[in-house]
Amino acid sequence: MPAFTARAPGKIILVGEHAVVYGQPAIAVPIFSVYAQATIIPDFSGKPGEIHISAPDIDLEASLSDLPSTHPIAVAFTLLKEHTRITAYPPCHLRITSTIPVASGMGSGAAVSAAIFRAISGFLGVTLSRDTLNQLTYEIEKIHHGTPSGIDNTVVTHEKPVYYVKGKAVETFHILHPFTLVIADTGISSPTSLTVGDVRKAWLENPAEYNQIFQQIGNIVREARQAIDSGDWQNLGRLFTKNHQLLKEIKVSCEPLDALVTTALASGALGAKLSGGGRGGNMIALVEPDNSEQVSKALLEAGAKRVIISTVKTTTSRGVE
Ligand code: PMV
Repeated sequence: MPAFTARAPGKIILVGEHAVVYGQPAIAVPIFSVYAQATIIPDFSGKPGEIHISAPDIDLEASLSDLPSTHPIAVAFTLLKEHTRITAYPPCHLRITSTIPVASGMGSGAAVSAAIFRAISGFLGVTLSRDTLNQLTYEIEKIHHGTPSGIDNTVVTHEKPVYYVKGKAVETFHILHPFTLVIADTGISSPTSLTVGDVRKAWLENPAEYNQIFQQIGNIVREARQAIDSGDWQNLGRLFTKNHQLLKEIKVSCEPLDALVTTALASGALGAKLSGGGRGGNMIALVEPDNSEQVSKALLEAGAKRVIISTVKTTTSRGVE
C-alpha cells in the first residue's frame, strides 16, 4: 500500500450562525487558502494495528493505542474500522498538519477529521461518498462541540457553498458571481461549545425574545441567498451588518469583534460581521475587490492578528467547476 495524502478546506459562515442550531437556515462557504492535511505512510516494520500519530501543530506524538478511546483521532479510527469492516489496520504512521486557525470559526476540527477519514480510506483503497464522509465527520464534531448543527462538517466535506438547514438534505449551490471577503482573526481563541451553551441558556430563559431574533436571522439568510444569486453586493453587505447587530443582541460578540466590524465599515467595506461561534475568532467583511488591500491594512492596524483575502467562487480541491 503506497502512502496517501488528503486535504480538507477551511470554511466560513457567511450568515446564520447560532440561529442555525434552532432550525433556521445558514450559508457557509469553503475557504481553500487554508486547509488540514493528513498523510498515511505505511510502516513496513510494524505489526498489524500498530499506528503512530504525529500532529506537530498540537504537540501530539503518540501511538494510537496510547490515546484515550474517546480522543477524536481514536474515535475516527474506530468509526472507519466499523465502516470498512477490516479486522486490523495495516501498520502505518499518520501525520496531521493544518493551516486553519484553531477555535476561530474556520472549521479546523471538522477539516482535520475529514482529512483523516479521507487519508485512511484512501490508504485502504476504500472510496467514501461525500455523504458518508460527512456523517463520519459529524460524529467527531459531536465530541468537539456537543450539539453542533452539522454545518461545518457539511461544508468541508462537500467543498461547495452550502445553504444549510439542520436535518434537511444537503443543498450545495453555485456562486454565479464571485465576490471578495476579507477574513480577519481577532487572535482570541473562543470554543464554539461555550457560546452555543450560553445562547441555549439564554434561550431557555427567554424563548419568545430569542425565537424572534432567530427568525429575523433566518430572514436575513433567505435574502442573502437571493443577493448572492443576483450579485447584489450592496444588499449582501447590508445583510452582513444587520446579522452582526442581531448576533450582538444574543451576546456572542465582543469588543474586539465590534471594533473590527466598525473599522471594516469605516474603510469602505460593504458590510461586516463576526463569523462562527463569536466572542473571538474571525470577522468577515464583504469588499469591492479593489478595496480589499485597504480594508485588510485597516483591520491589521486595528489589531487583527491575521487577515486572509478570499475570492468566493464555486471551486473544489479538484478544480474549478
Ligand atoms: O465556530 P464555528 O465556525 O464552528 O461555527 C459555529 C456555528 C454555530 O452556529 C454557532 C454552531 C453550530 O453548530 O452551527
